[in-house]
Amino acid sequence: MGQLRMTQLIDSFGRVHRDLRVSLTDRCSLRCTYCMPHDFNTWLPSQDLLTSDELIMVIDVATENGITEVRLTGGEPLLRPDIVEIIGRIKTLPNAPELSLTTNGLQLTRYAKAMFDAGLTRVNVSLDTLRAETFVKMTYRDRIADVFNGLDAAKAAGLAPIKINTVLMRGLNDKEAPALLEWALREGFYLRFIEQMPLDAGGIWNRSTMVTSDEIQASLQPFYSLTAIGARGSAPAEEFLINGGPHKVGIIASVSQPFCGACDRLRLTSDGQIRSCLFSKDETDLRKILRDPSHSTASLRVEIAKRFSHTVAAKLAGHGINDPAFIQPPRPMSAIGG
Ligand code: 5AD
Ligand code: SF4
Repeated sequence: MGQLRMTQLIDSFGRVHRDLRVSLTDRCSLRCTYCMPHDFNTWLPSQDLLTSDELIMVIDVATENGITEVRLTGGEPLLRPDIVEIIGRIKTLPNAPELSLTTNGLQLTRYAKAMFDAGLTRVNVSLDTLRAETFVKMTYRDRIADVFNGLDAAKAAGLAPIKINTVLMRGLNDKEAPALLEWALREGFYLRFIEQMPLDAGGIWNRSTMVTSDEIQASLQPFYSLTAIGARGSAPAEEFLINGGPHKVGIIASVSQPFCGACDRLRLTSDGQIRSCLFSKDETDLRKILRDPSHSTASLRVEIAKRFSHTVAAKLAGHGINDPAFIQPPRPMSAIGG
C-alpha cells in the first residue's frame, strides 16, 4: 500500500509527518501529579468527544495522506466503552496503520484479550513505581495491584512488545530507576524513562525538580553498563544496550535533549482538534466540520485533508521549552493526548 500513497504531510522544515497520536478521552482513572492537578474535574462534555464514526473518518483520511502510525492515548483510552470497536475499525481501513496504545493499565485485565483479537499487537503501559505507597502519592489512587494484574493479562493475551513508560520525580520515585529496570528485565518488558515535561495544567513543573537523562544514566550505571545505540531517527527514545545487550532501556529526554528536528508527529485531541505539537498554542478544529450537515462525505474528506496539510505547513521548528519566554499550554496532557 505504501508505494501507492500519493500525498505526504511535509512541513516547511522538510519533516515528513507519519505518526498521529489520537486522544480518545480526556478522562482518567488516575491523577498522576505530573499530568493533572489531583482535584482536576473540568472534563470535556461528552458530546464534545469525537464519536467512533468521526474518529474513523479522520484516521481514514489521515492514513490516505501519509500517516502510517497511529497511537491511541488519553487520558485513559480504556475508559472509552467503544475501545475494541475503534481498534477493529482502524485495523480494517484500506491503509491500515501500525497501531499502538498507551494506557495506565488499570483495565487491561478486562480488555487486553479483546483488543488483541481486534488487531492490536503491542501496548505501552505507564508505571512510575513498584511501591504501593509511592503509587498512591504519585497518582492519588490506590490501584497498583490493578496495573500488575493488567500487565499479566497483556502478556497472556500475546501483546508484544510491552513497553513501560516511567516518569521520575525528585523525592518520590527518583531512587527507583535500578529497581524498575531489574523488574522490567525479569518480566520481559521494555522500560523507557521519560523526562518530566511542563504539561501538568497546574504549573508544578520546575526545571530543578525534573530528573534529567544524565541523572537517570548516572543512577543506573553502578548496576548496569549502558551502551548508547546511535541513530535514533524520529524515535524520541535514546536507546542503550544493557550489559552489552540484547536487552535495552530507553530514555526520552524531551527537555534536556529536544528531538524536535526529527519530529514526525501530529496529535488529535479528544474533542477533535489537530495539534502540530504537544506544546502548540494553535489547534485546528475538525469537530465543527465533521458535524456540519451541509458537507457530503466527499467534501468532508477534502476539508479534513486540507486541515491536516495546513496544520503541518504552519508547524514551528520546536517546542521552545528552553526559551525564557516559554508558556505552558493551558490544557493538561490528558486532553491533548500523550
Ligand atoms: N511529562 C512527561 N511524561 C508525561 N506523561 C504524562 N504527563 C507527562 C509529563 N508532564 C506520560 C505518561 C504516559 C505518557 C502518555 O505520557 O506517563 O506514559
Ligand atoms: Fe491518567 Fe496518564 Fe495522566 Fe496518569 S499520566 S493521570 S494515567 S492520563
